Amino acid sequence: MASSCPSVAELVAAARRLYVQVFGEEAPRVAVCAPGRVNLIGEHTDYNQGYVLPMALPLVTVVVGSQTSGQDVTVVTATEDADEPRRVDFSLPSYGSALSPGLPSWANYVKGVIQHYRAPPVPGFRAVIASSVPLGGGLSSSASLEVAFYTFLQQLQPDDGDKVSKAVACQKAEHTHAGVPCGIMDQFVSVLGREGHALLIDCSEYPMRRRQCEEAASILGKDSLRDATMKDLEEARDRLDDVTCRRARHVIEEIERTVRAAEALKRGAYKEFGKLMVESHNSLRDLYEVSCRELDELVCAAMEVEGVFGSRMTGGGFGGCTVTLLQAHAIDRTILHIQGDKSAAQSSVCHFKGFGNGLGRV
Ligand code: ADP
Ligand code: GAL
Repeated sequence: MASSCPSVAELVAAARRLYVQVFGEEAPRVAVCAPGRVNLIGEHTDYNQGYVLPMALPLVTVVVGSQTSGQDVTVVTATEDADEPRRVDFSLPSYGSALSPGLPSWANYVKGVIQHYRAPPVPGFRAVIASSVPLGGGLSSSASLEVAFYTFLQQLQPDDGDKVSKAVACQKAEHTHAGVPCGIMDQFVSVLGREGHALLIDCSEYPMRRRQCEEAASILGKDSLRDATMKDLEEARDRLDDVTCRRARHVIEEIERTVRAAEALKRGAYKEFGKLMVESHNSLRDLYEVSCRELDELVCAAMEVEGVFGSRMTGGGFGGCTVTLLQAHAIDRTILHIQGDKSAAQSSVCHFKGFGNGLGRV
């Protein structure tokens, strides 16, 4: 069944109602939002200083709220999938001291953003979060929460407005307070993504996969795999174990594929782009080993339909979503075909109109 997501206005209205109900106050003064993302191609390349090509989704996280006079913060999430309790109360630490992570775990994203906000000290506030981005589905609900929260703080106490620094501050929040050593892709596209555009990001910064990549780079005598070629890898073959070699090969080839894919997209060469998406998926399945049976089945089912150019897993892998590039007239039959495929992962299909033919499974 094709599902439609609530509009930003509907999410804001729901968040405002909850705010009035919880705080017994008039409507909140500030409302902001930030999108989730789907990555078209360029997987596990961001923390190897390579390229990624994600786009922002019409699925968003909304934060509404108002500044208060003291140092107290209360945040409520309307999202039922978040861990309990869904309301947190804490005091802002004095300037220079740290805000420690704790439980519930969802509040750590908020605390991390406060901690790394670039124009401290943050004033006290009350806020409500509402989101249409599925949690833990590989569409970056976490980055959209961080970026929405950062944007909320900007309304209370403006920083210099630098967008790249904003993305980096949100990434740091995820590292230090959520404990996830993510790359920069998700926060970057959530801050800078534009409707109707994919964003080619040249990543110059960012547990087992990452170490293997760093080890391979060091054996090859390179600062990062960004500087390595397949020839370098072949020449160093005797000095690398099989697994490390396969990981490195994925990254080296994926960086190159991403550049070729961005060029193809610019030319409107969708067939070529689709072929590169499938090559990327196969490489993530066989060389990087971050796919799973359900994602492989979804890609296979999509590729059986006439009018589909390409399909691949998106995000970190081990579950999550696939992204499919297809002709507009093939959308309905592709959805039907995937749903008819009993062996395919249990999921619903979202068709994101106007966002570059994205067909995400959530
Ligand atoms: P994703 O791919 O969706 O980013 P992660 O596991 O990295 O998956 O992040 C999901 C986590 O982010 C959730 O378990 C929760 O702690 C937090 N989160 C995301 N969106 C919300 C929200 N709307 N309300 C509360 N917490 C959220
Ligand atoms: C995500 C991570 C991103 C990127 C991606 C794989 O989970 O947040 O930074 O590394 O995996 O491309």
